[in-house]
Amino acid sequence: MTIYNSKNITEPFAAVKWESGKLILLDQRKLPAENIYLEYDLASEVAKAIKDMVVRGAPAIGIAAAYAVVLAARSAYQSSADNWREIINTELELLSNSRPTAVNLNWAIAKMRQGFDSIEGDPETALLEMAIRIHDEDIAANHEMGRLGAELIKPDSQIITHCNAGALATGGYGTALGVIRTAFKNGLVKQVYSSETRPWMQGARLTSWELQQDNIPVNLVIDSAVSSLMQSSDIDWLIVGSDRIAANGDVANKIGTYSHAVSAKYHGVKVMVVAPFSTVDMQIKSGKDIPIEYRNTEEITDFNEVRVAPNDMQAINPAFDITPAKLVDVIVTEEGIVQDPDAEKMLAIFGKI
Ligand code: MRU
Repeated sequence: MTIYNSKNITEPFAAVKWESGKLILLDQRKLPAENIYLEYDLASEVAKAIKDMVVRGAPAIGIAAAYAVVLAARSAYQSSADNWREIINTELELLSNSRPTAVNLNWAIAKMRQGFDSIEGDPETALLEMAIRIHDEDIAANHEMGRLGAELIKPDSQIITHCNAGALATGGYGTALGVIRTAFKNGLVKQVYSSETRPWMQGARLTSWELQQDNIPVNLVIDSAVSSLMQSSDIDWLIVGSDRIAANGDVANKIGTYSHAVSAKYHGVKVMVVAPFSTVDMQIKSGKDIPIEYRNTEEITDFNEVRVAPNDMQAINPAFDITPAKLVDVIVTEEGIVQDPDAEKMLAIFGKI
């Protein structure tokens, strides 16, 4: 793995790139203070990068995993041209287990695997084409979701978003931020509020930064200010991304989304969830069955690497929560939108794809 600094990340900034046979990831742990790209040529290191949050956001994790399959196939083919399909399994297992909640990760690996059987000889070129297609299709999906979601937004809207579902979390443009970007271009957005998103501060560090680059008016609020903001200001929408949507429309997203959605219901604020079809998991019946990632408790007992909680303090650090479908007004995907989602409506749209 090599590190290099870029002084000029320009819009559209890429969280994930493939250059000169290597996977390049923008180190999101360092943003916005430093623009550092890390280069990878081993799938096992990409698995670690996903676990350690160098790359994060469900679609971006899936795209990074797709490119990592190319790296894994290269190594496997170098060690045995005949048995690369078996040898690759150890690295794919590592990748697959790097983070549990975002279904896009295993969706991308499964999609890449589907191509294995038809490949003859060196698999790198064919697999790279597939990974690039996954990447390109994600960007196209984001633009389509942006268009569909923005059609629901009225002029002068005030919008709260949580975590980062922007260009950084996807192949480009973003899901929730894609809708906000399109709505802003269409002159519909008065103000965006970005909730900070403890403990990784994706709202404070990433969403605020992305929206600033586009000159979209954004105010940062702490997570626990969101209910009071809904009480005191005319907020129209809570717009968020998702890591996995179950067959009944329950939504897994960054911890704190559920409490924002409960507050939204109480205050008559509408809730929009924006996610590509790769985030919909029709195999999972309801949110109860979605695996929730629990991360290292030092992320919450420490602040800036200094211990703030008493020593030996027990802590619980779920990274995601489940927002029940009945708190969601609309799910926007590139395949269409689902108003007031439930199992029947989800099946009608996604059952046939
Ligand atoms: O822990 P993270 O930063 O990977 O969590 C990201 C989120 O929860 C996003 O809202 C979600 O992945 C959708 S990104 C388009």
